[in-house]
Amino acid sequence: MLKVPIAKTEFSEEDLNAILDPLKSGWVVQGPHVAEFEKKWGNYTGAPNSVAVSNCTTALHLSLAASGIKAGDEVIVPSFTWIATANAVEYLGAKPVLCDIETETFNIDPSKIEKLITKNTKAIIPVHLFGLSAKIDEILAIAEKYNLVVVEDAACGFGAKYKDKHVGNFGVTGCFSFHPRKAITTGEGGMIITSDAELAEKLRSMRDHGAAISDHQRHTGSKPYLLPEFPYLGYNYRMTDIQASIGSSQMNRAEEIHQKRSAIADKYDELIDGIEWLNKPFRDEDFEHGFQAYVCMYSPEAISLGNIDSINASRNNFMDYLQQNGISTRPGTHAIHMLQYYREKYGFSNEDHPNSYIASQCSIAFPLFPTLTDEEFSYIADKIKNYKI
Ligand SMILES: Cc1ncc(COP(=O)(O)O)c(C=O)c1O
Repeated sequence: MLKVPIAKTEFSEEDLNAILDPLKSGWVVQGPHVAEFEKKWGNYTGAPNSVAVSNCTTALHLSLAASGIKAGDEVIVPSFTWIATANAVEYLGAKPVLCDIETETFNIDPSKIEKLITKNTKAIIPVHLFGLSAKIDEILAIAEKYNLVVVEDAACGFGAKYKDKHVGNFGVTGCFSFHPRKAITTGEGGMIITSDAELAEKLRSMRDHGAAISDHQRHTGSKPYLLPEFPYLGYNYRMTDIQASIGSSQMNRAEEIHQKRSAIADKYDELIDGIEWLNKPFRDEDFEHGFQAYVCMYSPEAISLGNIDSINASRNNFMDYLQQNGISTRPGTHAIHMLQYYREKYGFSNEDHPNSYIASQCSIAFPLFPTLTDEEFSYIADKIKNYKI
């Protein structure tokens, strides 16, 4: 029996060697490797300013804080996303106002945003879930109409484009993750991109306790013995040079990583075309999918709130069958309003955001990583094709 994980981190010899550089130099905190990684990230995404941070959650928090979001404000967030999207809003004492998704794209439903806007609404966080851009034109039009800040949660967005523009470049900032489930990984890590140079400077300061200049600038300057000014309330959200050296090395093959993921997704599409009870991920010529994950909807029949429990049980049986055969799967992600902290704080019931409820109970992610072999793929395909629901 083969064993196929849901994702696999793969570091090349070059990546392994790259770590030695900061270790040998002795400068291991944020320094020249972070600067190099930022430059490469900017080149790949087309962003004029990139600011590396400790993870995507801190990227979101910092973006909101630097944009002036504060206690009492409301921020619109999709109800089907990783919990971090909403948590970043909570950290500021602001309220995440959940908006349901489209089951077809798994992304925020733009037609449901406007009715959630109140006098307290200050921002929207569209999430490009699983590497598919949210419907950004419609979201930006609403944001402009109501003067709202747009912070893109592009945690899964590496390689994802909307109308040929890399995600993260549409909002005030775009926030990426380098967690091991993501296409580029530094263990933990994040990146903020922005076209606003002044905001980038503020973010650089705020990730580093609010210091006016970084430690590396001070240590390599003429007066390292003078401590800097601290104009902002900052945080320690720095990325280390050890992490950045790995990220920087992976960026040398960024396009290759993206193409390999896309090629595997194409193979899955062909397979799923022949499986009536699975709906493959949304594709459209305006949306280049980054395929952080390959997520289908398990739908042996039309899903409604009436039959969701039986379809969920049936999906779980299918997941269990694959697990017994060594193949890992996962639900796409979770629905925020169903998680205990949010359910209890805001008194949600599952039905409050029905599409997110459906997506959490009926979605299924299959193994996807660049080194997935033909043998592994055939094995997965056989097991799926032979399954009797
Ligand atoms: C949509 C989304 N937002 C935010 C995050 C948080 O990223 P990180 O783990 O880098 O903090 C994740 C991570 O899985 C995510 O999927």
